[in-house]
Amino acid sequence: MRDGTLDLAWNTRAARIQKRIDTLASITDESGMITRTFLSPAMQKANQVVAEWMQEAGLAAAEDRVGNLVGQSKADPGSPAFLLGSHLDSVRNAGRFDGPLGVLLAIEAADTLRSNSVEMPFSLAVVGFSDEEGVRFQNAYIGSKAFCGLLTPNELAMPDQNGLTLRRVLEFRNGTDFVLSQPTLPPGRIVGYLEVHIEQGPVLENEGLPLGVVTAIAGQSRSRLTWTGKASHAGTTPALLRRDALSGAAAFIREVEVASEKFNGLMATVGQLHVEPNVTNVVPERVVHSLDVRHQEDSVRNEASAWLVQRAGELAAARRLAFAWETLQITQARNCDTNLSRRLLGAVETVTGSARRLPSGAGHDAAILALLFPTAMLFVRCRDGLSHHPDEFVSLEDIRAALQVTVELLSSWESI
Ligand code: GLV
Ligand code: MN
Ligand code: MN
Repeated sequence: MRDGTLDLAWNTRAARIQKRIDTLASITDESGMITRTFLSPAMQKANQVVAEWMQEAGLAAAEDRVGNLVGQSKADPGSPAFLLGSHLDSVRNAGRFDGPLGVLLAIEAADTLRSNSVEMPFSLAVVGFSDEEGVRFQNAYIGSKAFCGLLTPNELAMPDQNGLTLRRVLEFRNGTDFVLSQPTLPPGRIVGYLEVHIEQGPVLENEGLPLGVVTAIAGQSRSRLTWTGKASHAGTTPALLRRDALSGAAAFIREVEVASEKFNGLMATVGQLHVEPNVTNVVPERVVHSLDVRHQEDSVRNEASAWLVQRAGELAAARRLAFAWETLQITQARNCDTNLSRRLLGAVETVTGSARRLPSGAGHDAAILALLFPTAMLFVRCRDGLSHHPDEFVSLEDIRAALQVTVELLSSWESI
């Protein structure tokens, strides 16, 4: 759909997306920063606000059993549907674009197509997933897995930091036993899924390009490691007699850096650490920390993980520490759909004159949706490649280009 035929100018629409992103940024569980986690008060408020925007765009909005917000155009509810969306939860102290950009842009695209009476061979559905970041249960994609009917019994047994399992939380919310295999929409209806997301890396900015089409999403494993030694007096316990859990964990964290050098392309991170008793003058007794390992090739991620398990065991033995490794999540690397990505690339070329394809190092709901549906992702350039940081930024011009591409993709689709 070209300029001139529109009821509202592209810039006006892009500005509305930006304004809504700013409004969502003020909805948080922790004042002074953006934090929205699975089914938290801020997530419930965010869903209320976004549901109103969906309704203004002609979409009937409702939450599913896990708090995914789904807006559907009022066409025949059994007809084929094209799904657009991303997530509304965030990391702690997040930026404002990671997730919300894809949801609010999808709503604006739906509004553009409806207000201009564009005919498509499917109806539209927009989803705001309730958990992509996995902050509450340290296991990502609860929203998209539940949407697809792919949550597992092990995942239902995961506890949050208050010891509440996902099963308890969902039974409290829904009042009945949670049936795992029940998808939110009948999978046979969905002809494709498009997720628009900030790139979260520097490639597009370095090349002076606003947009790129994702080829594949890196695989990821998340683990929890526990090191247990013995608390003792900091002023009297000689170095050789200590069983210092934190020194053991620190030596391992250095090995995590070594792994990133040893295995080309590996991203490995310890981002969360708890120390007990966490007191200045006591040798640390217990350390629990996270480990996030990613690679585009599952075989390299597996090899690196095995090497890290071995190094952890050696370090624990040398330091007389007890040690436990729990794997919390494994998500395999996932290719985007060739045909849908080709169509998307065509739309990017039409709107921007360039056609860049690139892999995603970050995880996305698309990695789960791709298990069931043809899935594509559009990356939008972000300033300094920065994400998971309050300074995350996407320009109005780039939002506008991403909106135009999304509308171009859907409005040029003649038949399925
Ligand atoms: C989500 O942003 C992730 O890649 O962990
Ligand atoms: Mn994120
Ligand atoms: Mn994200």
